[in-house]
Amino acid sequence: MSDYQCLKVETRGRVGIITMYRPEALNALNNQLTSEITAALRAFEADPNIGAMILTGDGKAFAAGADIKEMQPKTFSVVYSEEFITATWEELTRTRKPVIAAVNGFALGGGCEFAMMCDTIFASEKAKFGQPEIKLGVIPGSGGTQRLTRFVGKAVAMDMILTGRMIDAEEALRIGLVARVYPPEQLMEETIKAAEQIANYGALAVMAAKETVNRAYETTMSEGVRFERRLFHGLFGTADQQEGMAAFLEKREAKFTGR
Ligand code: CAA
Repeated sequence: MSDYQCLKVETRGRVGIITMYRPEALNALNNQLTSEITAALRAFEADPNIGAMILTGDGKAFAAGADIKEMQPKTFSVVYSEEFITATWEELTRTRKPVIAAVNGFALGGGCEFAMMCDTIFASEKAKFGQPEIKLGVIPGSGGTQRLTRFVGKAVAMDMILTGRMIDAEEALRIGLVARVYPPEQLMEETIKAAEQIANYGALAVMAAKETVNRAYETTMSEGVRFERRLFHGLFGTADQQEGMAAFLEKREAKFTGR
């Protein structure tokens, strides 16, 4: 875990924390950083002692977007043949354990898209969100036009994507882009608390809850509700369902085992 050049990776109890760390470039997402995020996510995903993850950034940025220096010389044939961005960036959408984005500062372009690939977003009062790609002569390239539109609706998504304007944490909370806002010095502590809470519930129920909510963005209402019901039924085959319900009736804390 200490081999990362652009990340700080640590654990707190059952929570894995990945901190993007490129202070010279406001954590801009270059190939090295995104490859390391993929590796760190896979390591936590495979670790049975980890139940939830946090993605955050060091310093005054979460991530200021794709690395413009690295991107500028690329041609159409290169980006098209490499399937630029999606090939190395989408591991976040494949993780089955929950990931909370703790957005401490700038989350712009790919940084905002990365935060939106996480399962929920907690922000510091200093956070700023934006999709400024239009100012660079391009458009969002890692799901921004699709996720932002689904999460906050067309009017705000069009406004942000067409003008490139940044929104602050208060506006992000109001439009439903983020779930919680904290003073900067409390952001990590509170995010860790929430991640620990999630990590200590039954792992199968947590995984099923994440999978089912995400399904809402992929399917129709009736298919989504059917999918939910089948997974709900499936959880009655787990030891954690027996334990969770018995603990409630016996007025004691449940001890989940992830089975
Ligand atoms: N790529 C590469 N380097 C970046 C960067 C980026 N996205 N964002 C910031 N940096 C670098 C700056 O070049 C600067 O480096 P130097 O000191 O070597 O000049 C350093 O980080 C600090 O940045 P600033 O001096 O600009 O800091 P600031 O506080 O004045 O401004 C900012 C902060 C508003 C975030 C500004 O840096 C900025 O606008 N950054 C670019 C944001 C952007 O356009 N992101 C979208 C990228 S495209 C994309 O992400 C495509 C996609 O959909 C995947």
